[in-house]
Amino acid sequence: MDEQNPKRERRVRYKGTHPKAFKEKYKELQPEQYADDVEKVKQQGRTPAGMHRSICVNEIMEFLQIVPGQTGMDATLGYGGHSLEMLKCLVPGGRLFATDVDPFELPRTQERLQALGFGPDILFVRQMNFSHIDKIAEEAGPLNFVLADLGVSSMQIDNPDRGFSFKIKGPLDLRLNPKSGKSAADLLKKISYDHLEELFAVYSDEPYSELIARAITSKIKQGKKIETTTQLQETIAETLQYLSEDSRKEETKKACQRCFQALRIEVNNEFGVLEDFLEKLPFALAPGGRVAILSFHSGEDRRVKKSFQNFFREGIYSEVASDPIRPTTEESNTNPRARSAKLRWAIKA
Ligand SMILES: C[S@@+](CC[C@H](N)C(=O)[O-])C[C@H]1O[C@@H](n2cnc3c(N)ncnc32)[C@H](O)[C@@H]1O
Repeated sequence: MDEQNPKRERRVRYKGTHPKAFKEKYKELQPEQYADDVEKVKQQGRTPAGMHRSICVNEIMEFLQIVPGQTGMDATLGYGGHSLEMLKCLVPGGRLFATDVDPFELPRTQERLQALGFGPDILFVRQMNFSHIDKIAEEAGPLNFVLADLGVSSMQIDNPDRGFSFKIKGPLDLRLNPKSGKSAADLLKKISYDHLEELFAVYSDEPYSELIARAITSKIKQGKKIETTTQLQETIAETLQYLSEDSRKEETKKACQRCFQALRIEVNNEFGVLEDFLEKLPFALAPGGRVAILSFHSGEDRRVKKSFQNFFREGIYSEVASDPIRPTTEESNTNPRARSAKLRWAIKA
């Protein structure tokens, strides 16, 4: 290879119309260059690879009533879809503090928003857990608005290396921040039957919690490995093999969804950090400050509702949502991930 004409690395080629491997989906992973393809995927009710479609954007923006010059917080930056809408309303003179625990997606989103003109003068990105909202308020001052869009992003679910999906083989990780804490595979290595059964039953109402917890803990005791997403999926499928053929496939899929969700909640201490956040939240808000929380799990929604109502009774919030706002039928039809969303709001007295 001569110095003047160095051999160039070829990019992975997109093979056909239905790429199977995540990394081959490069049309969708470069949305700016392939806007038409991305739009086509969205029209089909799917989320393009490497992207996240923000939920209830209109409802959230209508409630938050953001005006130029305000200071606010997007507690769950993700792909930055909600942040982008907030930033547009904040110019000139406003500031958005955005947090996320994900060390991989966060810099990509920050770069994307910077390329759209929202640099460090208006957007303050912090890789931290939203349970430290008090630290954000210390730095930013009283917040005029806060948004938390709980759970995981489509980028996290779709990336096999993160271990969130039982449909693709990957390490059984399930951490929002894989650089800290314990992966789901490590959790399973030492967990007792009672603890695991309780996780499945309490976090996900798993009807087969006893059978599945027994199968997992017995396998591990015998020295067998459950270290990948597919090894866990296979263990659940073997356990439910006794079900009649008509229901087996669907029941196995639902049990996998519930068990993966329960493990994710546990490894990320999702309910614990949400409770910390809810406790500190009203004290981070300015008088009249508005907060919207989007949740996807009954355990989350219950906690949000209870906290809002308790602080309302104490006169700390002046108004709270009596019922959750749900995505429109149109949104749920075009984005299946929106179907379980519930949006609650509160206003600081
Ligand atoms: C549903 S996505 C947010 C999507 C975002 N609203 C958008 O429009 O692209 C949830 C994000 O919150 C992050 N997250 C979840 N729990 C968190 C926590 N306790 N602290 C900070 N970030 C968290 C996840 O890493 C993920 O990126």
